Amino acid sequence: MTLSRPLAGLVYALAAALLLAGCEQGPAPPADPYDQRRMDLKPAPAKLGGERHAGAFAVGDALSLGAVLEPLDPAPVKTVRLDATHKLIEIAPGVTFSAWTFGDQVPGPTIRARVGDKLRFSMTNRSDEPLPAAQVAAAPMMHSMDFHAAMVSPQDKYRSIAPGQTIEFEFTLNYPGIFMYHCGTPMILEHIASGMYGALIVEPRAGYPTQADREYVIVQSEFYAQPDPGQREVDGAPLYVLDGERLRAAQPTHTVFNGVHNGMLKQPLVAKPGERVRLYVLNVGPSKTSSFHVVGTIFDRVWLEGNPDNQLRGMQTVLLGSSNSATVEFMIPEAGSYILVDHHFANAAQGAIGLISTDAKFATKDLEHHNLPASAAPSDPEAVQGKLDFESKCLACHSVGGGRKLGPDLAGVTTRRSDAWLARWLKAPEQMLETDSDAKAMLKEYGNLPMPNQNLSDVQIQQYLEYFHWLDAQPTGSAQTAPGH
Ligand code: CU
Ligand code: CU
Repeated sequence: MTLSRPLAGLVYALAAALLLAGCEQGPAPPADPYDQRRMDLKPAPAKLGGERHAGAFAVGDALSLGAVLEPLDPAPVKTVRLDATHKLIEIAPGVTFSAWTFGDQVPGPTIRARVGDKLRFSMTNRSDEPLPAAQVAAAPMMHSMDFHAAMVSPQDKYRSIAPGQTIEFEFTLNYPGIFMYHCGTPMILEHIASGMYGALIVEPRAGYPTQADREYVIVQSEFYAQPDPGQREVDGAPLYVLDGERLRAAQPTHTVFNGVHNGMLKQPLVAKPGERVRLYVLNVGPSKTSSFHVVGTIFDRVWLEGNPDNQLRGMQTVLLGSSNSATVEFMIPEAGSYILVDHHFANAAQGAIGLISTDAKFATKDLEHHNLPASAAPSDPEAVQGKLDFESKCLACHSVGGGRKLGPDLAGVTTRRSDAWLARWLKAPEQMLETDSDAKAMLKEYGNLPMPNQNLSDVQIQQYLEYFHWLDAQPTGSAQTAPGH
């Protein structure tokens, strides 16, 4: 009889231990890749100066500006400049938001490096520079930089600098992973929610154990936007500013990938059937978790925090708290459009959705899954909110201009019904079905399937009506949602 493999291993190990017990020297234990004696834990003090950077706000060969991750720059010292700026960004169609940034974009550029590399960082606080004509910026203020990839004294390296000041510091990357960076100036919550964050990807010293055909970065974050209480406008549309109340209550208005509501729906990430895709996913928060999922495939490998030592296999979803990350790798099995989504569907409904498609000419109207953007968008804040609510609650059963689904097509609804009727219907459909002959007729037409009460507030109902009126004022087809299925 032969020994089973584990048992045989145990016997050999015991025999080896007995043999070695009498010896002076055994084999060296396997080297710990995280042996702190091999790490650089003595970074030089930060330098603070009055000399400002001019020109580009983001400079460095290690930077990637969008979802496509650039190849690793082989230089052992990565020199990176990310200046702090104030800027207006469009977080959703018609929603121009007063943001604070690193490198003049939200999220900030992705930095790519390798364990053992040195990151030589500098930043000027340029929040005092004027925006292009007729644009209104937030007042200049203190900012700072906090790298989760560093092991340094926060009081030295992460100190806040005033408008016009420049800070420089450097540190060695000791651990592999996908690390968040963000502004750490109080109120930190406001600085992150205003856009001051990005990802730093640190490859293992010897590279990854797998070969990927495509590499993309996905940064998830929340926005808490309200029309400016001071009624400021940009190009005739309201300016959106941070909503402090929603921020403290952790009730975002938008939850997005790579800074844009429904990002990557109109311009999907590209892949071919049979390819292996590696996504570097960082959930910035600042206050929500992400349940990251790709519709149509399974994560062959998940490396929690982006470190191959933390490996899981065959995952459907990966849960990421605020500032958690994961590398996910999967195959694109066949031609199609695979949907990136936060499977907390309330977050997806706020815009945390994207696509990896094998069809470069993929058109939004072909998508038959989840929430879809209309191709035109209102600018009135009430209609914008009505559209967001409508798309998250109603698109499963209704289309706009795409024909009937479980319920009627809502194109032209304001010409068929009065506002008063619509308001009563949205408020209490079950009551209407008892008393109103039009409601009764509609129920019959739609297979006696009553519309569930959506528990809308009066304000929400008003916002729906604003949205419906906006829809009906558009040229036919321009604000269409997906066809029914
Ligand atoms: Cu800041
Ligand atoms: Cu942090």
